[in-house]
Amino acid sequence: MKSYKIAFLGFGNVGRSLAELLIRKRQEIIDDYDVSFSVSGICTKNHGCILINDDLDIDDVMNKIKVDPDIDLNTLTGLPFITDPVEFIHQCNADVLFENTPVNYDTGEPAVGFIKTALNSGIHVVTANKGPVVHAYHELSQIANLNGVKFYFESTVMDGAPIFSLFREALPVINVRRIKGVLNSTTNLILSRIEMGDSFDEAIKYAQSIGIAETDPSGDIDGWDASVKIAELATVLMGIRVKPQDVIRKGIRDLKVDQIRNARESGKRWKLVCSATREYNQVSVSVSPELVDAGSPLFLIDGTTSIVVFESDVLGKLSIIEEDPGPHTTAYGCLADFINIIRN
Ligand SMILES: NC(=O)c1ccc[n+]([C@@H]2O[C@H](COP(=O)([O-])OP(=O)(O)OC[C@H]3O[C@@H](n4cnc5c(N)ncnc54)[C@H](OP(=O)(O)O)[C@@H]3O)[C@@H](O)[C@H]2O)c1
Repeated sequence: MKSYKIAFLGFGNVGRSLAELLIRKRQEIIDDYDVSFSVSGICTKNHGCILINDDLDIDDVMNKIKVDPDIDLNTLTGLPFITDPVEFIHQCNADVLFENTPVNYDTGEPAVGFIKTALNSGIHVVTANKGPVVHAYHELSQIANLNGVKFYFESTVMDGAPIFSLFREALPVINVRRIKGVLNSTTNLILSRIEMGDSFDEAIKYAQSIGIAETDPSGDIDGWDASVKIAELATVLMGIRVKPQDVIRKGIRDLKVDQIRNARESGKRWKLVCSATREYNQVSVSVSPELVDAGSPLFLIDGTTSIVVFESDVLGKLSIIEEDPGPHTTAYGCLADFINIIRN
């Protein structure tokens, strides 16, 4: 049986959910792929950074985190600890690094640098962090190829739903001509709640209360998160280089509550629509509120559900819908990337 050493850089909602999922699926991974794994380190910003020469007992770590979610990981071993993530990557002796630090929409850093360090050290990288993909996809993929390792990021758009692996594994030599979707859960939830009677502020507060919207929801409301996602899809699947700043962007801030409810009463709905369209050698990429009617697949997308519709030169329209996203579905995307790496 082949054994892989894995390390976690960032151990918040996604990192912890991934650790739980790996523990739950450990026997199935052995049974189906004849592969086992052990954890060689975990690095966070303020909750400790541990490197283990022998294997870390990840079950024990997760049990202790359940008792005290704020635990300092450095207290779990008697070993000297480090504080620098780059030093951690150099010393972690991992085959696969799960990079799940917070997104930086402007530059992708410091995660771009972390991922470069890992790939240049011959470590496969799996990330749920959109920043490095949208800002450095071509460069990071090239570094991965040069070093004979993989750089996978399934969870960065629509969490565990297979998008990048679908095109990579199942849809060879296809040309994507158009991408259209509702990719930001927070704004879609806000629009759905306003249709049901909430004010704008009540809808935002509800989204925050269920952990979907951040304390400052402007990244969602002004269309930045949606711009990052459509820029990423266009970059990876349409082979162009587009930054979030290049996306023609309008959020939902200027939509009026009456406008949203009147549309619903007349059989239409406002949606924050992401689009990328290839015309000749140009790709135009935009995010803006659109009024959709009942004939559109986007019409039925409620609350936190997302949808993406691909049009290609061969298959016509192909849609993917994801319901009930959360850290557990993001974790599954990371796990699927891990399996795709080990089985190749
Ligand atoms: N949550 C989701 O459902 C979801 C869905 C799709 C994509 N994502 C993406 O997944 C990534 C992780 O999300 P999350 O919800 O797990 O975030 P989170 O709960 O805030 O966790 C982030 C982790 O990264 C650590 N960290 C921050 N800066 C670091 C640094 N410079 N060096 C080392 N570690 C650092 C934090 O350390 P401390 O614990 O000490 O703060 C924490 O452990 C983000 O890029 C996010 O956009 C998340």
